[in-house]
Amino acid sequence: MCEDDIFCGVNEAKSANVDEMTDLEKKHTPVIESPKKVKKGEPFEVQVEVGKHMKHPNENAHYIEWIELYSGETFLARVDLVPRLTEPKVKFVVALDHAHPLIAKERCNLHGLWQSFPVEIEVEG
Ligand SMILES: [Fe+2]
Repeated sequence: MCEDDIFCGVNEAKSANVDEMTDLEKKHTPVIESPKKVKKGEPFEVQVEVGKHMKHPNENAHYIEWIELYSGETFLARVDLVPRLTEPKVKFVVALDHAHPLIAKERCNLHGLWQSFPVEIEVEG
């Protein structure tokens, strides 16, 4: 519905294969690093990095404004960022009760809202 309008809806890379991503997709797609299996209710670390595949600019005129983490549609956490003084690479400590996929979202001040591919996680116990 949004066609090629990056300011309409949430952007997502067309392919999870980095070799097939455009430079815009490489710079803006959040990349989640998380354990594949966790214990219910026990804290663990989730890292989210924007620009892992290709560095995103970090300057006053162009930067990542915030990063959010979700468990399915459940909001977990948000970090606000500023240009130059903070990098769009953050660690969250979360404890899950349900095994919904992890999803990260971020907003670039010039290129709008982007989300990661969902990362499946197993929650034991
Ligand atoms: Fe951008």
